[in-house]
Parts: sequence; structure tokens; C-alpha cells
Amino acid sequence: MTKYCDYLKEVGVNGDLFEVLCACKNSVKEISALVKLGKIGKAGTENVFGEEQLELDVESDEIIQKYMKECEQVGLIASEELPDEIKVGDGEYGVCYDPLDGSSLVDVNLAVGTIFGVYKTGSFVGVKGSEQVASVIAVYGPRTTLLLTTGNGVKEFILNAENKFEMNDKEITVGEGKMFAPGNLRASAKRKDYMDLVHYWCDNQYTLRYSGGMVPDVNQILLKGKGIFSYPGYEDAPNGKLRLLFECAPMAFLMEQAGGAASDGRMRILEKEVVSLDQRTPIYLGSKGEVRRCEEYLEK
Ligand code: AHG
Ligand code: MN
Ligand code: MN
Repeated sequence: MTKYCDYLKEVGVNGDLFEVLCACKNSVKEISALVKLGKIGKAGTENVFGEEQLELDVESDEIIQKYMKECEQVGLIASEELPDEIKVGDGEYGVCYDPLDGSSLVDVNLAVGTIFGVYKTGSFVGVKGSEQVASVIAVYGPRTTLLLTTGNGVKEFILNAENKFEMNDKEITVGEGKMFAPGNLRASAKRKDYMDLVHYWCDNQYTLRYSGGMVPDVNQILLKGKGIFSYPGYEDAPNGKLRLLFECAPMAFLMEQAGGAASDGRMRILEKEVVSLDQRTPIYLGSKGEVRRCEEYLEK
């Protein structure tokens, strides 16, 4: 079985980026143990988005900070749980991350995740998702798995009994199929266009697969090779809830590398410029045909 580090070398990722992606992988191993055995209480603090932080949010963030600060190839970090980007050294790589995605699912023991986007940049303000050199998501479910892209397609790695990530040889590509993950469904009460789109999926007997965790929900679409994840905005949150830098751009890179698409309803997520770290965006992510359907029904 091919290990994570062997795969990186096979696709020509070595030197500095290799070290950065090993730091991401090693932080995931530690977060995986924390998710299983860590405390699940509230930290009593809020993040810059005004969201109540769990102890796990804060501790996962601290773990990633530790590994990034130890990696001399990383010069800059930004976290969903921190107010600003932080210069951590002279490395040429910037790593942005959502340390724990799906926090609201921790106390009910559903799968949660971590999201990384890797850039060669001195600041995240002004970047576009298309500039990412790598994207990694970790899924903390019955097993701990990683999905990785460095621009050579998408590969899954599974944490084994020896605490090593082994590659799954399965080809990861996303085609058409009747599965939907309709986020922010409450918006359909105010948005007839979204209600019409959900009706289309229901009328055409699509299989509902939505957990409330973006990482497990999108991981399912990538591994099943079909489907659509939607999270529109409405009324007082016209750009929805999901963060361009920390969630949508890394996920869009993975999805496009698997032959799918990712749009805000009007344009590619990967073409959107990050104007502020707390920027949110509507997102429609999945097979090309389903993303096109979302664009036709929504965001007119
Ligand atoms: P996080 O836990 O990092 O704040 O992210 C939660 C996000 C995302 O994982 C999920 O798709 C979305 O919140 C669900 O939002 P709703 O609770 O509005 O369904
Ligand atoms: Mn998140
Ligand atoms: Mn989070």
C-alpha cells in the first residue's frame, strides 16, 4: 500500500511543499485522537464570526498552529478561529485552515473534519482559490481519512492501525447522479428559487444525504462520485454562512480536481478574490451538471 509521503514523492511533490503537507498530515493525526477522547464542552469564547467556540475548536487550532510554527517552510497561517493572519516564519508557504468543521456535530457524535488550503503567498488578502498549490481535508468518522489534491487529481488516505495514512487506490471522480445535500434549507421559506430547486430534486427522487458538516457531506459526494452540495444565502445573510478562504476555496479545488465544479451561483469559486479573511460566499459544489442546474435556478 502506498503511504501518504510516498504518494507525494510519486507526484513530484518534494522539498518545501512536501514538508508543509507532512505538517498538515501530522496535525490531523493529533486532532483525530483529540476528537475521540477530548472534552466536548464550550470554551466560553467566540470566534471572529461571532460563533461560540468549543474547547475542541480551540485545541484543534492550537495543534495546527504548533505544527505550522515548527515547519520552517510555512511563513503565514490563517485560521477560522483566529481574528487575523499570523506571520510565523520566513517560509514561502501560507496555510489557511478550518481546524474543526462541523463543531455543532461534536456533541452528537457525528463526523467532523479539518480543512486546509495551501498557497505560496505573503498574505491571504488578495489571493484567489485558483492559486492554491494544495488542499487537504480530514474526516474524523469511524475511520480517520484524508482527501488530498496537489493539482494531480484527488486521492484518499486512510489512517491505519500503525497510525500511518495508506492510499486508497480508488479513482476519485465526480459525475452525474441523483444525490443532494441541501444546506441552509430554511432559506427556501424566503427564496422561491431555492424552493423550486429543492422541489426539482425531490420531484426527481434524489437521495438526500445531508449531515450538517460540510467536510463529511462533501467527502461523501467525492467518494460516491456524484451529487450536489448547496448552501445559499438569504435576507440578512445574502452571502450565506460558509467562508470563502477557510472552507469554500479548498473544497472547490478538490471538487474541480475530481472533475466536478464549484460556483457561487454566478462564477467559479476559485476565481473569487479573497478581500477579507471573514468573507462568506454562497456555494454550489458537485457534478458539473448539478452545479449548472443551481446556476440556472438561483442567483438570477
Ligand atoms: P464550522 O463548524 O467550522 O463552523 O462549520 C459548520 C458549517 C459547515 O460545516 C456546514 O456545512 C454548515 O456549517 C452547516 O450550517 P447550518 O448549521 O446552517 O446547517
Ligand atoms: Mn467549517
Ligand atoms: Mn470550524
